[in-house]
Amino acid sequence: MKLGTLKHAIDHKPVADDFAIIEADRPTCPENGILVRVVHLSLDPYVGSRLRGRHMGEPAPEPMKRAIPGAIVGQVIESEAAGFAEGDWVHAMEGGWQEYVALSASEARKIDPSVAPLAAHAGVLGMPGLTAWAGITQLAKVGAGDTVLIDAAAGPVGGTVGQIARIKGADRVVGIAGGPEKCALVTGAYGFDACIDYKTDGWRERLADALPDGLSVFFENVSADMAMLALTHARLYARGVLCGLVDAYHTDTQSQHPLNAGLIIGKRAQLSGLVVYDFYPRWDEYIAEAAPWIASGQLKFAEDRAGGLEQAPALFERLMNGKNKGKAVVTVAPEQV
Ligand SMILES: NC(=O)c1ccc[n+]([C@@H]2O[C@H](COP(=O)([O-])OP(=O)(O)OC[C@H]3O[C@@H](n4cnc5c(N)ncnc54)[C@H](OP(=O)(O)O)[C@@H]3O)[C@@H](O)[C@H]2O)c1
Repeated sequence: MKLGTLKHAIDHKPVADDFAIIEADRPTCPENGILVRVVHLSLDPYVGSRLRGRHMGEPAPEPMKRAIPGAIVGQVIESEAAGFAEGDWVHAMEGGWQEYVALSASEARKIDPSVAPLAAHAGVLGMPGLTAWAGITQLAKVGAGDTVLIDAAAGPVGGTVGQIARIKGADRVVGIAGGPEKCALVTGAYGFDACIDYKTDGWRERLADALPDGLSVFFENVSADMAMLALTHARLYARGVLCGLVDAYHTDTQSQHPLNAGLIIGKRAQLSGLVVYDFYPRWDEYIAEAAPWIASGQLKFAEDRAGGLEQAPALFERLMNGKNKGKAVVTVAPEQV
């Protein structure tokens, strides 16, 4: 089978040439576990940090041996685990860049293929969607009267954040994104009230214009600087969800991300750090709530899709440079065999 791995250890922002697709033995079904045929593979920003040992203390995979980590959607082809049968569809965070994966029962979560397109379980119903739901409904607790600001708004987290905020009753939802195409997605399909293209002159003034009454919630995906800019527009008692600092994932040194304590105090702001791992036990609850939103068209999603494991390195490089428009997903194999 094919397996995607690192050619060598890296300490830089990954580029396509850092990866190799090699032939490896197909794993066997583990005792009390399952063997899964990988169909969709999720590419996510945190993996770039993990490949250089910068993510939550998790080790980088051994070059030319171990698969690049990545969440997968796949089908069980053998099961020795109670509760899993051949043909079941599953999602697993530790699937990786490979055509087949052996998993313990606790690493796999059964999914219902009828609630949404299968690839949605890599994005809007997968880890990015759960992150968005957790931040909006469990941490910021968005509701009527809220004005919400989100950066990286065209991405799978940001786009879902804004739409769930709207579903939960927010009065106004404003995005920040890089480039006219991304902003068109944000105000078009995703239905935000405004999107500020931060790659154009005068964007800070336009951001102020887009928030005439300030904001009550901001959802930070990019940097401490952007969080502090958001806070300058905050009403008193604003809530901020600190979700990601993608602009700093590949800086030469790992910065300390200073925040302006005086501004936080002056605004009486509440900032919450979000790590989606805390919400994994609530995944089925999220899907039960979100699947009807997808079915009714209230929650939309975009994909930057590639076909075949050989395409994963190039798509990953695009993701590392913010060039993806929507969820980066590699379809490794056809859904039906
Ligand atoms: N805390 C958690 O548990 C958790 C879970 C999932 C994701 N996250 C974080 O949530 C954020 C969004 O994730 P996502 O999967 O939805 O990613 P994404 O939006 O598809 O990709 C990241 C986006 O960040 C923007 N960006 C700004 N500066 C960048 C830079 N220097 N390099 C690359 N991209 C840059 C780009 O959009 P623009 O062109 O619009 O700027 C890029 O498309 C990330 O920070 C991610 O790490 C956190």
